Amino acid sequence: MARVCGRILALCFVVAVLAAAGVAHGQLSPTFYNTTCSNLEGIVRSAMTQAVNKEARMGASILRLFFHDCFVNGCDGSILLDSTANFTGEKNAGPNANSVRGYDVIDTIKSNVEAACKATVSCADILAVAARDAVVLLGGPTWKVELGRRDATTASQSAANSNLPSPGSSLAQLISAFSAKSLSARDMTALSGAHTIGQARCATFRSHIYNDANVNASFASLRKMSCPSSGGDATLAPLDVQSATTFDNKYYQNLVVRQGLLHSDQELFNNGTQDALVRQYSSNTSAFSADFAAAMVRMGAISPLTGTRGQIRLNCSKVN
Ligand code: HEM
Ligand SMILES: *[C@@H]1O[C@H](CO)[C@@H](O)[C@H](O)[C@H]1NC(C)=O
Ligand SMILES: *[C@@H]1O[C@H](CO)[C@@H](O)[C@H](O)[C@H]1NC(C)=O
Ligand SMILES: *[C@@H]1O[C@H](CO)[C@@H](O)[C@H](O)[C@H]1NC(C)=O
Ligand SMILES: *[C@@H]1O[C@H](CO)[C@@H](O)[C@H](O)[C@H]1NC(C)=O
Ligand SMILES: *[C@@H]1O[C@H](CO)[C@@H](O)[C@H](O)[C@H]1NC(C)=O
Ligand SMILES: *[C@@H]1O[C@H](CO)[C@@H](O)[C@H](O)[C@H]1NC(C)=O
Repeated sequence: MARVCGRILALCFVVAVLAAAGVAHGQLSPTFYNTTCSNLEGIVRSAMTQAVNKEARMGASILRLFFHDCFVNGCDGSILLDSTANFTGEKNAGPNANSVRGYDVIDTIKSNVEAACKATVSCADILAVAARDAVVLLGGPTWKVELGRRDATTASQSAANSNLPSPGSSLAQLISAFSAKSLSARDMTALSGAHTIGQARCATFRSHIYNDANVNASFASLRKMSCPSSGGDATLAPLDVQSATTFDNKYYQNLVVRQGLLHSDQELFNNGTQDALVRQYSSNTSAFSADFAAAMVRMGAISPLTGTRGQIRLNCSKVN
């Protein structure tokens, strides 16, 4: 570079400017819409407040929607797309079908944002802000949401089926699924704390309460009452037996007394590498809050489309 600069000064300048622009476009920023949609956060917060007031579980559903977007080809709004002649969408993938909810809430927020800031804010960014607001509205920590993602023009049902971890996962499989997204074991354990809110279907935890050894006997009996050994697959139970609509550290307290609902939850406290961290989070809310918030920012930065890649979708359920 120094040699090129010495000999052709103008070219050197152009190269340096392009390099700087490339770096800037590759990064997300909390102030991305400051001048182009200054009220974005207010619009999202207002709609999320209404949705969560109407049904507290919706906060959990929106948080999960963001996770399932980010883990499948990055946080690019691909999960929001309906299937078309050109691709099969993610909505009907195994981990999402009859399970992921909140698409209508995101569509409503998008309409409100379009009315204020036409063709400016991506669905992927709206989802990132909505997920943060969901956590805050249910009593959890806050963080600055990095912005500047653009929307995918395609979706992948097969990637959704292979990249999202299953509730039957071992600790090693969980660590590896997060590592594939450049997230650490510590990030994985902190992000699993999202299961302090929301519900799961009997089909996802039946095998844990009937067949596993590391489950609290009285807790298993309680859950078996509404989740029979066969049938009732869709019957819901709270992921956090103590407080399903409050974002707190009780999820970890449950794990310590073997009251995790999913096999994958209890894997975090099963005489393995994450036991000490689970104990720490169970007794120190601020340690959990700080790690959760930082891990959400890292999860939100998985493979974003930035610069001129992708598009700003006008309607989250279809490409322009
Ligand atoms: C560690 C691996 C994970 C596994 C195996 C897993 C699995 C599951 C399963 C099976 C359900 C119940 C779905 C149903 O029965 O319909 C669920 C619900 C949920 N998950 Fe996870 N999850 C994981 C990580 C995460 C992460 C990282 C987040 C967010 C940061 C998250 C947020 C949620 C929420 C909030 C719910 C409740 C949703 C609702 O009530 O609508 N999960 N998860
Ligand atoms: C962007 O807006 C936020 C929220 O209003 C404000 O805190 C921040 O200082 C602004 N930043 C810039 C660079 O304008
Ligand atoms: C499918 O892709 C083709 C080529 O890119 C495009 O012209 C067409 O509009 C797409 N169809 C749908 C339903 O999106
Ligand atoms: C974990 O270790 C404790 C103490 O050694 C033991 O009582 C318990 O059975 C072990 N649990 C599992 C699932 O191996
Ligand atoms: C099972 O849960 C109860 C509280 O409901 C607790 O007192 C007990 O210690 C738990 N058992 C185990 C093995 O963690
Ligand atoms: C709880 O965690 C925070 C953040 O890691 C730490 O600063 C604090 O000292 C911890 N408190 C206790 C009582 O261990
Ligand atoms: C967005 O597109 C879907 C699917 O075509 C359609 O049903 C819905 O009404 C559209 N939403 C708006 C606000 O136009």
